[in-house]
Amino acid sequence: MTAGNVALATVVADAPKPASKSKPVAATEGFIQKPHFPTLIFQNDLQQCNDLNKTLLDLIYAERDSGRTHNKSNTAELGSWHSATNLHKNSDYAAILAEINSALARISDDLSYSKDHVLKVTSMWSIINPPGNGNRAHCHPNSLWSGVYYVQAPENAGNIEFTDPRTALVMNQPKYETKKKRPRECWTKANFKPVPGRMIIFPAWLYHGVASNLSKEIGRAADRIIISFNVNQVKK
Ligand SMILES: [Fe+2]
Repeated sequence: MTAGNVALATVVADAPKPASKSKPVAATEGFIQKPHFPTLIFQNDLQQCNDLNKTLLDLIYAERDSGRTHNKSNTAELGSWHSATNLHKNSDYAAILAEINSALARISDDLSYSKDHVLKVTSMWSIINPPGNGNRAHCHPNSLWSGVYYVQAPENAGNIEFTDPRTALVMNQPKYETKKKRPRECWTKANFKPVPGRMIIFPAWLYHGVASNLSKEIGRAADRIIISFNVNQVKK
């Protein structure tokens, strides 16, 4: 029997018995909602990150302005820039890599991953999105987890938006109360606001895109700047 079958059997067993054929079922302690097969997105807001972000800002602009690296952005024609993907091997980025590794260790622990293995950053890169730029929807093949860290994010710099991976659900959507906040379990999109110092870690297979940067700041202060990374599990 698969884990899925076990879960389904549990839900059926927990379902309440109708009090009578003519009366609706009242909420009772026996009526339980159990989320299964969830899509986990982790948010980790670093405290006192100003010095770290200033250092990263200088490094990222220096790399872009050097012209040494090939631009890998999927919206390069609009002016976005995407560095090479080996920043995790550059000791200049050791501080942010340590923060990422700390978050990954916590995820490994929270999800009961094997203690003989570790989540390891396998690629890491920076992106600069000037005003008017975003990133088309995509996922990150050949990885377990992926993440983003916001180095600079002015107001209206563009949310990251994740799309419900359960595509079968688009075949038949229920109607919802328009005046009530829809339960998180029923969302079909999830938006995260970019905030300097915020780290988001999500399943690599989860499709996501970035809205256009609509910042009204002047010059480089208007740029949306991130560090992005891919993660796999390796033997210690
Ligand atoms: Fe991405």
